[in-house]
Amino acid sequence: MQEIKITRTTHPKAKPDQNSLGFGKYFTDHMLRMDYTAGIGWHDPRIVPFANLELHPAAVVLHYGTEIFEGLKAYRRPDGKVQLFRPMENVRRMNNSARRMALPTMDEDLGLEALRAFVELEQDWVPSAPGTSLYLRPFVIATEPTLALHGISEAAYILIASPVASYFPDGLKPVDILIEDEDVRAVRGGTGEAKCGGNYAASTRAGDRAEDKGYSQVLWLDGVERKYVEEVGSMNVMFKIAGEVVTPKLTGSILPGITRKSAIELLASQGVTVSERLLSVDELIAAAEAGQLEEAWGIGTAAIISPIGGLAYRGKKYAIHGGEIGPFAQKLYDDLSGIQWGLKPDPFGWTFPVDQPAPDATGSEK
Ligand code: COI
Repeated sequence: MQEIKITRTTHPKAKPDQNSLGFGKYFTDHMLRMDYTAGIGWHDPRIVPFANLELHPAAVVLHYGTEIFEGLKAYRRPDGKVQLFRPMENVRRMNNSARRMALPTMDEDLGLEALRAFVELEQDWVPSAPGTSLYLRPFVIATEPTLALHGISEAAYILIASPVASYFPDGLKPVDILIEDEDVRAVRGGTGEAKCGGNYAASTRAGDRAEDKGYSQVLWLDGVERKYVEEVGSMNVMFKIAGEVVTPKLTGSILPGITRKSAIELLASQGVTVSERLLSVDELIAAAEAGQLEEAWGIGTAAIISPIGGLAYRGKKYAIHGGEIGPFAQKLYDDLSGIQWGLKPDPFGWTFPVDQPAPDATGSEK
């Protein structure tokens, strides 16, 4: 594997107050970068002081949005050590996103070692206050200076990190969600299952409109019929309806979330089957009207679990679990986040300490 060269900053920053981190406001002292050149592949992996990027004004990413990213977290365990959660899943998903966006894929070992080596260097930035972590944001951009639209021959992989608290300022306090039936986030055959910036750009307008009306986010419906529930805000979504735990199945326009997948596996180990199926908005509203919509929550890396306290659709509002977090979502949060922060045993082998070299790509992850 290629060696990752390290140039340390001569001006380390003061660390922010752990009690007012917010989400994505502060950045660590360094960043990791490597470059791709067709015919050579990925080269020159290096950790350098955090700095602005220099880009040619014609760089493809600036014109055609050729970009993919990932989100994962490093957690401070009670014994002071730092661990990642299923990082190989992120490496693999990033390669899948790269394939969709015609960006270069990366050797899995190199992708994993980049994450591990970077977090090992930035360990002091992993906060320890309850609910906090170091959010890692690897991304790939097409850097080639051309306005012609064709296969990518130059790209950059950059990894930055931000010490964060809860994604929503009120943490586990349930949020109110507006069901969006105008804008759509993605369509099958489009880029919905890739983690690319464009999906998030396309969802901003509806999110802003919902916020203006007093909601935290929108519930997305499918792009063809505007009938089936897909995601909530920037997360996957789950419901408990008359005892059944349901999540939209991965139809091609939904992000294959790693927290989603982990919840399904964790619940299966507890004897709870999550139904991955199509769920229409009509079924959801009928369940709410019949008092059978017991719980609902968003699920993703940034927020982990974000309970939904109320849904609004076509002028009507439906409270869920009296606007309080339900016991099922609370237990799922406790179990999942307990493994992530090392507060609970990890029988799945999902956690990955950063102070050991990355094992080969096939060995460490299930
Ligand atoms: C994540 O949950 O990690 C995401 O990528 C969503 C982003 C809007 C913070």
